Amino acid sequence: MKPRVFSGMQPSGNLHIGNYLGALKNWVRIQPDYEAVFCIVDLHAVTLYQDPAELRAKILELAALYLAAGIDPHQSAIMVQSSVAAHAELAWMLTCVTPVGWLERMTQYKTKAAVQETVGDGLLQYPVLMAADILLYQAAIVPVGDDQAQHLELTRDIAQRFNSLYGETFVMPATSLPTVGARIMGLDDPSKKMSKSEAGAGHAISLLDPPATIRKKIMRATTDSAPAVDFALLGPGVENLLNIYQAFSGWDAEQMRAHFAGLRYGDLKKQVAEMVVASLEPLQQRYREIAAEPGYVDGILRQGAERVAPIANSTVELVKRRMGLYAPC
Ligand code: TYM
Repeated sequence: MKPRVFSGMQPSGNLHIGNYLGALKNWVRIQPDYEAVFCIVDLHAVTLYQDPAELRAKILELAALYLAAGIDPHQSAIMVQSSVAAHAELAWMLTCVTPVGWLERMTQYKTKAAVQETVGDGLLQYPVLMAADILLYQAAIVPVGDDQAQHLELTRDIAQRFNSLYGETFVMPATSLPTVGARIMGLDDPSKKMSKSEAGAGHAISLLDPPATIRKKIMRATTDSAPAVDFALLGPGVENLLNIYQAFSGWDAEQMRAHFAGLRYGDLKKQVAEMVVASLEPLQQRYREIAAEPGYVDGILRQGAERVAPIANSTVELVKRRMGLYAPC
């Protein structure tokens, strides 16, 4: 039997090239070697207020983007978190073994909580739900971008604590980061990671941005005062553009150096823009075809949930028995 892989994305904001290079591209690459579950984590999205109509639309859009990027529903399950109740159930059980101090230390929690007037409990529990997502499927690896590494460490801590309290139950999931593209930075401010929630028009390249928009955003990207690429002295903006090119092209470090050393920033930007436009073009074309077929995505999501529910439910049953909760034979 193939080992299992689990990962997910929030259906909030617009999916950008950071999400693609940090996670989605890797999912497509590894899917033949694993029994994969790719989730649309709507329960995570509502830890911050979402307009209901918009959220419904974003769930279908995200599923269509998974498909357009190359997730094959015959190989991998694509499912929505809230359609398999076991996610929320296991999250509660894991909450009961998680010290609140572990959660308060999470960087993403601190960043998000700092800008909220009142901090919802869901925001604090967010990484426990994430641990439940992963442990429910006994996933061996979790392909994510670098910003999720801390949550993955916490997942292992929670699993270990549960195992030591109640006996060996959960597989320890390994974090899988891409070698290039694990942390794509904002084009307008390369000191900040590219983010779905950042409002600035020049911040992120969305996967569905038209070519003209992609070119404009890249040509305006922040660099530094040097005129040309110097690998001995790379500023963060130039390094980010080179990273984007390398992650899309699959080139190694030698090829990158040979091609880009000494190139003027204007030319670098033009080449990065053309690489991004050409790489996203087939994805955008498939997305348009999928979006034109009403009901297709709903069918995939229904099948995905039906396929994974027995796995998820059997883990919940096991956890119930381990904890002494009522689980009739
Ligand atoms: P989310 O929706 O914020 O991001 C989805 C994926 O994209 C990666 N990512 C990036 N990679 C490179 N550069 C960036 N600038 C960048 N921004 C985002 C993220 O690391 C992630 O892999 N909590 C998760 C969703 C989740 C999950 C899970 C993931 C819920 N349950 C279980 C794995 C396993 C999140 O909010 O991702």
